[in-house]
Amino acid sequence: MKTMLALVKMHRRPGLSLERVPVPQAGHGEVQIRVLKTAICGTDVHIYAWDDWAQRTVRVPLVAGHEFVGRISVVGDGVRGLEVGQLVTGEGHIVCGHCRNCRAGRRHLCVNTVSIGVTAPGAFAEFLALPAVNVWPVDESIPLDTLAIFDPLGNAVHTALSFDLVGEDVLITGAGPVGCLAAAVVRHAGARHVVITDVNPLRLALAEQMGVSLALDVRTAGVSDAMTALGMQEGFDVGLEMSGSAQALEDMIAVMCHGGSIGLLGFIEGTTSVNWEPVIFGGLTIKGIYGREMFETWYKMTAMVQSGLDVTPVITHHFPVADYEEAFEIMRSGRSGKIILEWPVAPSQ
Ligand SMILES: NC(=O)c1ccc[n+]([C@@H]2O[C@H](COP(=O)([O-])OP(=O)(O)OC[C@H]3O[C@@H](n4cnc5c(N)ncnc54)[C@H](O)[C@@H]3O)[C@@H](O)[C@H]2O)c1
Ligand SMILES: [Zn+2]
Ligand SMILES: [Zn+2]
Repeated sequence: MKTMLALVKMHRRPGLSLERVPVPQAGHGEVQIRVLKTAICGTDVHIYAWDDWAQRTVRVPLVAGHEFVGRISVVGDGVRGLEVGQLVTGEGHIVCGHCRNCRAGRRHLCVNTVSIGVTAPGAFAEFLALPAVNVWPVDESIPLDTLAIFDPLGNAVHTALSFDLVGEDVLITGAGPVGCLAAAVVRHAGARHVVITDVNPLRLALAEQMGVSLALDVRTAGVSDAMTALGMQEGFDVGLEMSGSAQALEDMIAVMCHGGSIGLLGFIEGTTSVNWEPVIFGGLTIKGIYGREMFETWYKMTAMVQSGLDVTPVITHHFPVADYEEAFEIMRSGRSGKIILEWPVAPSQ
């Protein structure tokens, strides 16, 4: 049996290990992809750290990872329109195709979703097998690094493009990789003021490179100070919550314009209290966001990159996969943007 290298969660304890595992085969309706680059996501860090969520969600052994770019190496039976050698990335949420939302074309709302690298074999491997419908063929002129982060860029695009952004004032809470990507997206889409908040100066500096109007450290300043500095009167039209902090959401609700909209992407864990008065009397709309729309988000993201959206500043580190432990430690420390893991290019036996 042919084997390959993969980053695997072998045991129910912290860490991952580089292991030899069987090469996944392209079944009916699937393709096999030779992985070129992957990126580390917060989700991978949860799995690495083996926190409560990971313990509840992951079954071992699991090949981790879901952010990738690669080339098709095998086209399975019954697949049309894809070829060996094609450069692709892909949607890591595999949907059932028969629930109400799938049948209505709202596949991102499938009630039976499984996720590669979480509940299905993932992309931190030399090869990945994926349903052909999940594959997103890409423009060869887009940098591989950018393609490797299409999944989190898609989270940012899905959240941001849920709302009208042209000429609007946007508040983003959380300047992690996804918040920084969202800053670039809303700027590209024509927002006026883009304010981003964080409690980590390194991440605020990264956000400044993405073209925000103001990057605010909420340990020392309030969002209303940003409004004063920018000469804003009535509050933000659009809020994108990308920190997972209940405090950040509360602060956001307090500075929204009447009739404004909030997208909730950050995972706010457990039960938290919200002052509902400004939501009700201010007529706010709050929308939860999960994943990416299949495949309108992928289409829009590709088009924006082709028309000049540059997200490369958010990528701060590259490591060969053998140095994955160092990469995960930096990611855990918050001293990075996106981190790319480079895969061995020559297929192994
Ligand atoms: N819903 C989805 O489908 C989906 C997909 C991807 C990521 N997420 C979530 O989105 C969030 C962003 O992802 P990421 O990879 O950038 O995460 P991240 O954890 O790297 O970034 C979050 C940032 O928020 C900052 N922060 C913490 N408290 C804050 C506060 N009070 N105010 C402002 N900022 C604060 C942190 O310092 C950090 O820089 C995470 O919560 C992640 O779990 C959700
Ligand atoms: Zn991800
Ligand atoms: Zn479904």
